[in-house]
Amino acid sequence: MILCHTIAELRAAIAERRRNEGGKVAFVPTMGNLHSGHIQLIHEAHKEGSTVVCSIFVNPMQFGPNEDLDSYPRTLDADSQQLSEAGCHILFAPNANEIYPNGLDSQTQVNVPELGEELCGAARPGHFTGVTTVVSKLFNIVQPDVALFGQKDFQQLAIIRKMAQDLCMPLEIKGVPTVRAESGLALSSRNGYLTQEELTQASALYQTLVKIRQSIEAGESDFDKLCQQAKTELSTHGFTPDYLSVRRQSDLKIADANDCQLVILAAAHLGKARLIDNIAFALNQK
Ligand code: PAF
Repeated sequence: MILCHTIAELRAAIAERRRNEGGKVAFVPTMGNLHSGHIQLIHEAHKEGSTVVCSIFVNPMQFGPNEDLDSYPRTLDADSQQLSEAGCHILFAPNANEIYPNGLDSQTQVNVPELGEELCGAARPGHFTGVTTVVSKLFNIVQPDVALFGQKDFQQLAIIRKMAQDLCMPLEIKGVPTVRAESGLALSSRNGYLTQEELTQASALYQTLVKIRQSIEAGESDFDKLCQQAKTELSTHGFTPDYLSVRRQSDLKIADANDCQLVILAAAHLGKARLIDNIAFALNQK
C-alpha cells in the first residue's frame, strides 16, 4: 500500500495505477480509527474497482465548537496496518493544512439545503456543510469512479447522493449495510468512548429500532406515539435521546401511514458518546 500525505503525491500514485492497471478507482473516505465496518467498505470497494483508495482525515469543518475534534482518536499506524491487510492500494492521510491551506473561514462551502437541516443537522449545526465540503474536495482530489459510504450514517449518505446528483459529479455513490456487533450495536469509532457497562447498555438503541419496525409491520400507524414511547424506553436504559423519528427513505420527510419505504432514525447520548443508528425497511404496497 502506498501512503500519501499530499495531494500531489496522491494524484501521481492514482495516475500511475490508472496507467498500469486501468479499470475503475473505488474510494472510501474515512476519519480513521478504523473498525470492521470500515474494512467492509474496503472489501466492497474491491468489487467495484481495480484500484482502492482510502482517505483518513479528521475533518475539522464538520465538528461543532463543543464537539470531540481534539479527542477524536487518531490511530494512523494501526489503521494503515488494517488497510494494508485488507488490500487497500493507496492511503491518503493529509493534514489540515493540506486540505484547508487558507484556513476554514475563507474555505468555499458546499451546502445541501433541506436534507441537511433536520435530524443530525438540527442537533449539529454546520456539520453536514463540513461533510459535503470535505467530501467534494476529496472527490475532486481523488476523482474516483465509485465512492462507498456506510448506511449507518443514513442521512449523510442521502445528502452525499443529493450533492453528487445536483452538482453533476461524474461518479457513482454506493451505500454499504451497517456492520453490527453480536449484540446488534452498530460499529462506530465513537463506541470507543463507552465504558464496558455502557457498551452492554448500548445495544438497547438497535433493539428499540427493531421493536418500532415490528410494531409498524404489525399495523401500528401512529408513528409519533411509537417514537415517544421508544424515547422513554431509551431513557430507562441510560440514554438521553436526541431524536427518534420515522421518515420516508426518499427525502427524509416525516412519514405517515401511506408511505411504504421507511427508515427509522435515532440519535442518543450515552455516557460520553453520541450514538446514531437506523433501520430502513419496506412495507407491502398499500
Ligand atoms: O463518515 C465519515 O467518516 C465522515 O463524515 C466523512 C464522510 C469521511 C467525511 O469527513
